[in-house]
Amino acid sequence: MGRKLLLEKAHVPGIRSYDVYRREGGYRSVEKALKTMSPDQVTEEVKKSGLRGRGGAGFPAGMKWSFLAKPEGVPRYLVCNADESEPGTFKDRYLMEFIPHLLVEGLIVSSYALGSNKTFIYIRGEYAWIVDILEQAIAEAKNNGFLGKNILGTGFDLEIYVQRGAGAYICGEETALLESLEGKRGNPRIKPPFPAVKGLWDSPTVVNNVETIAAVVPIINITGEEYAKIGVGKSTGTKLISACGNINKPGVYEIDMTISVEEFIYSDEYCGGIAHGKKLKACIPGGSSVPILPANMLLKTAKGENRMMNYESLSDGGFATGTMMGSGGFIVLDEDQCVVRHTLTLARFYRHESCGQCSPCREGTGWMEKILKNIEYGKGKKSDIDLLWDIQRKIEGNTICPLGDAAAWPVAAAIRHFRDEFEWHVQYPNAAQNRNYGLAHY
Ligand code: NAI
Repeated sequence: MGRKLLLEKAHVPGIRSYDVYRREGGYRSVEKALKTMSPDQVTEEVKKSGLRGRGGAGFPAGMKWSFLAKPEGVPRYLVCNADESEPGTFKDRYLMEFIPHLLVEGLIVSSYALGSNKTFIYIRGEYAWIVDILEQAIAEAKNNGFLGKNILGTGFDLEIYVQRGAGAYICGEETALLESLEGKRGNPRIKPPFPAVKGLWDSPTVVNNVETIAAVVPIINITGEEYAKIGVGKSTGTKLISACGNINKPGVYEIDMTISVEEFIYSDEYCGGIAHGKKLKACIPGGSSVPILPANMLLKTAKGENRMMNYESLSDGGFATGTMMGSGGFIVLDEDQCVVRHTLTLARFYRHESCGQCSPCREGTGWMEKILKNIEYGKGKKSDIDLLWDIQRKIEGNTICPLGDAAAWPVAAAIRHFRDEFEWHVQYPNAAQNRNYGLAHY
């Protein structure tokens, strides 16, 4: 059984309430940080911990914090990205819903380190019921002296505001999120400047994912050095994985990044194997944007080693034979699933969610969906497969934000690893079409 740092108390009855959370040791990190450490010492602990951003990019959190510009007289902000929208990803939802005070606690310590007196949680509109849960937790923390003016008599002031998004995936991209928070249409900004220099209302801003902020609590409690000993290499600490698809036990699991992918899928502690005794066909281990891998490449790296559930091992081999940890949205496909159909579903999502600002993404996502639809419906030509490959190449790297890449990579990986399946659809159009009973809404 791996070590649990975030979800250990998530199922203690009543843990959503301040009283139970506090009784279970909650808010100790706030007392420790605010009363015995300077803001820079807190940042130093996060750096020592090796914590990497849990939203998907895996950028070192302490390094991001140390990039925060500190001009005299200019406010600084911490913004928590709770706009979790990556298909297959529902770990932040779980954390906020079951143990909301952990996020509030992490936000207080992180805001103190960064010098943010007004901190925002930007949460996806569809998580409406969680807004109530968070606001309740914030009110309780305030009533108990952990928020508001002069917290614990230390002179530090903090208010936390919850802002709901309106259902756009693009608003999870950090600069689109800031635009939306400012009340504008959520179009991504060109980076640099990074938010750490010019963010919310042009002020220096750190944008961190929910899980990243929550991880600050155990880091302060056990020290950065101890946290860095959990896990392996540059994959320190624990990681939440939301597992879904054709498995026996879908759910959110906290892993310490030393287990193999095979163990994660087949062990009863985690996914419990493939549902209905079927065989594993493929998996997208890090949310819909990361490349799909066929079973053989998923379980073993190109060097023949067991592939492990961590940043380095999942990306071993680059996109030729590897994939990415991403947001930890682990989507499993059994032997009956059609990769063309699956890729079409994703292409449809990215076409719908493209903000339309950059033409390669706006036009390209639409073309990819149309071509995939033709192939899946038995109207495709062999040359369509090369055309699809060509279009995704022209999107990748040619857009302001990573939505373009996120739309291109699944298509590229599907063709790279499952070209025969695309060719089968073209060669046997009737057989492919007859399977399409579930696509009436397209
Ligand atoms: P990124 O690699 O551009 O940036 C990562 C973070 O580091 C950002 O906060 C950025 O501001 C900061 N950063 C990088 N270089 C910096 C510098 N020189 N100075 C200051 N700050 C710097 O990646 P991005 O766009 O933030 O995230 C992309 C990832 O998001 C994808 O890999 C995908 O897995 C994930 N994603 C997650 C979703 C979810 O629902 N959790 C939804 C969609 C995508």
